[in-house]
Amino acid sequence: MPSRLFQKKSYEAYVAEMKGENRLRRVLGPISLASLGIGSTIGTGIFVLTGLAVHDKAGPALIVSYMASGLACVFAALCYAEFASMVPVAGSTYTYAYATLGEMFAWVIGWDLVLEYAMAAATVANGWSEYFKSFLNSFGVNLPASITKAPFDYDPNLGHLILTHTYLDLPAILITALITWLLVIGIRESAGANNVMVGIKVVVILLVIVVGVFFIKTANWHPFAPYGWTGISFFGKTLLGQTGKGGEPLGMLAGASIVFFSYIGFESVSTHAEEARNPQKDVPIGLIASLIVCTVLYIGVTVVLTGMVPADKMNLSAPVSDAFKQIGMPWMQFIVSVAAMAGITSVLLVTILSQARILLAIARDGLLPTNFFGAVHSRYRTPWKATIATGIFVAVFAAFVPLRILAELVNIGTLLAFVIVCLAVLIMRQRHPEIPRPFRCPGMPYVPILGSVFCALLMFSLPKENWLRLLVWLLIGFAIYFGYGRYHSKYAQTEKSKN
Ligand code: ALA
Repeated sequence: MPSRLFQKKSYEAYVAEMKGENRLRRVLGPISLASLGIGSTIGTGIFVLTGLAVHDKAGPALIVSYMASGLACVFAALCYAEFASMVPVAGSTYTYAYATLGEMFAWVIGWDLVLEYAMAAATVANGWSEYFKSFLNSFGVNLPASITKAPFDYDPNLGHLILTHTYLDLPAILITALITWLLVIGIRESAGANNVMVGIKVVVILLVIVVGVFFIKTANWHPFAPYGWTGISFFGKTLLGQTGKGGEPLGMLAGASIVFFSYIGFESVSTHAEEARNPQKDVPIGLIASLIVCTVLYIGVTVVLTGMVPADKMNLSAPVSDAFKQIGMPWMQFIVSVAAMAGITSVLLVTILSQARILLAIARDGLLPTNFFGAVHSRYRTPWKATIATGIFVAVFAAFVPLRILAELVNIGTLLAFVIVCLAVLIMRQRHPEIPRPFRCPGMPYVPILGSVFCALLMFSLPKENWLRLLVWLLIGFAIYFGYGRYHSKYAQTEKSKN
């Protein structure tokens, strides 16, 4: 039995699968892929979490946090790109892990990706709701807090969770329902809508930088790093830097571990390999191009924002539009709110889409019910049941859990996935040097090693509760695997029929 847990899906099996009947349409070229990458990356992170991270974690040094986080992602992206070009089918890290580390590990990663994508979608829907409120506010309309906020939140001044005396986040539920419906209808329409939304957000971010630069007051950059340059703890014990009232790490690195959320999504390009016209070439281009564009834009926005508004006056919900409100430019508040809503919508779209594709890949291997998660709609050719299930899950978390807590949980799950990808690229080079690699990660073995070390460091810069939450999540995953997946795995059934 243990040998079966570590059974790897062969490269030949993937190639055979690619020729199967139940495939998705190959409609995406390199620009659409890069656009999907940018579409799934620039969203709630830069538009919402930047304010929180400047205010509570890093001060203006968040500019450097964005560089540190971006660097960790570059290393991981190079590893992702090598894998994506080797195993060009749906499923992302899950698929790569099945090919390298075996079934059980693949399941653990697949389950971890649910934490990444579905919870990220919930966080993003939450952020959308913040800008929806800012948009209405630019017309003088204010929705009641009771239907626009989760019923609890973390208060860094008190150092513990508090009740907010609200019910739920209704706008977050509504936007999730709308996107889920769009995705059930089909990828072609979705990719077209995505291109438009990506265009809007990139143009408006450039506008924020170009207009905002005239309102920078260099005095706002002093002190530049009020919480210091580090912020590393080990299960609640501070190793380096300052800590907040609740024992959470503070400083530039602690800021980097929060705004890491802003980068999540670029790797989702790899989950669309099956829909790519030329996956071997276009997927690596899409991955790296989208990461470079996002990093440059993030640094620009953070420079401008921290120059415009003192760190302690930074708005926690909609900091970018609020910065323009504070300097008396309501028309920019309006434009930024609309663009943020459009931009965040495209993130939500790609994130839910990626999640459904991952569930589809897992179900095809039999580790989740194939009839349900593996069902492709006869007319739309989309994994419609997996999409609807994802939509419901996302809506529930978006409605009842606050943004800050969701974001931290997503970050720890994603960082874990990145560490594993970096290590797996090393393992695969050693064990299967013969497999063609249209894209080869440069700087071996340093790039994967640096990638895993950087990502692990960021994991230790997150508040300790996240380790516990991650552990609980993984334990639930193990229960599902040992209760269901192990017995229904396609591999297990093939073995049985041989005996
Ligand atoms: N990177 C994505 C965002 O910031 C998840 O919304």
